Amino acid sequence: MDGCELSGISNAERKKLTVADFSKMKAQRQRIVMVTSYDYPTSLIADDVGVDSILVGDSYGMVVLGYDTTIPVTVEELLPVCQAVRRGASHSLLIGDMPFLSFQISEEDAIRNAGRFIKEGRMEAVKIEGGREMAHIAKAVSNSGIPVLGHIGVTPQTATLHGGYRVRGKNADSGKRLVEDAKSLEEAGVFGIVLEMITEEMARVITQAVSVPTIGIGSGRYCDGQVLVLHDILGLYPRLVPRFAKRYADLASTIKGAVTEYVAEVRRGTFPEEKHVFKMDDTERDKIDLREMP
Ligand code: KIV
Repeated sequence: MDGCELSGISNAERKKLTVADFSKMKAQRQRIVMVTSYDYPTSLIADDVGVDSILVGDSYGMVVLGYDTTIPVTVEELLPVCQAVRRGASHSLLIGDMPFLSFQISEEDAIRNAGRFIKEGRMEAVKIEGGREMAHIAKAVSNSGIPVLGHIGVTPQTATLHGGYRVRGKNADSGKRLVEDAKSLEEAGVFGIVLEMITEEMARVITQAVSVPTIGIGSGRYCDGQVLVLHDILGLYPRLVPRFAKRYADLASTIKGAVTEYVAEVRRGTFPEEKHVFKMDDTERDKIDLREMP
């Protein structure tokens, strides 16, 4: 049963999700489902099974391009990925992740780059990492007419500066700072906030403290929605499996099995078979003397 069947709404009846629907979903306590996608086929599948939103995450740099971190990712790298995802999705809200240094330098630069995600990447919103220190940027982008999703807790682009991938909100002081971060983003006009690797208790407090939906990743059960990196769900990223992610498939093994079989069949000469080949008409073939062929 897919997400559409679960909600009792067929794809034909589904309407395109907007940022306004995100806040309605929070008000109606309907859990928001978000997943990353980096290509046309997985965007088509995610949209078809009924996810509410697709994030073209800068995690693309790690899980697809093989970078060690998300820091090297550029706007130029993400734009064609956004376009491919856009071609596959007709219902989900599409969000482009602004890469490191594409929004921090100045408000003007942030608006210009966010605009590229909308105009060239054909996304409908952008995500910006950072709490109160990025609130002025989130405000400028959102005031320019581009919906912004905030992102606090572990922010991979600045993880090294903030002590790595440590769970946030483990004590009252850091918990209070997270609430302040969330509130400054809310005031800046974001339409939602990703909470990454925040203790379940603090994620719950933040979710109650702000009017915009919270989308958790490694932040427990009380967020308004959840997001996961597609390759973690599919078992397709070999380097690291975060404890908070659930692997719903083991595609790495499936792919390995398929390619191993292909290699063996080519070497044995059992692929291609009769059904895979193209034939000439007998009359045409008879005109060719194979001995004359080079
Ligand atoms: O880049 C990404 O995939 C993300 C999610 C982890 C929220 O930022």
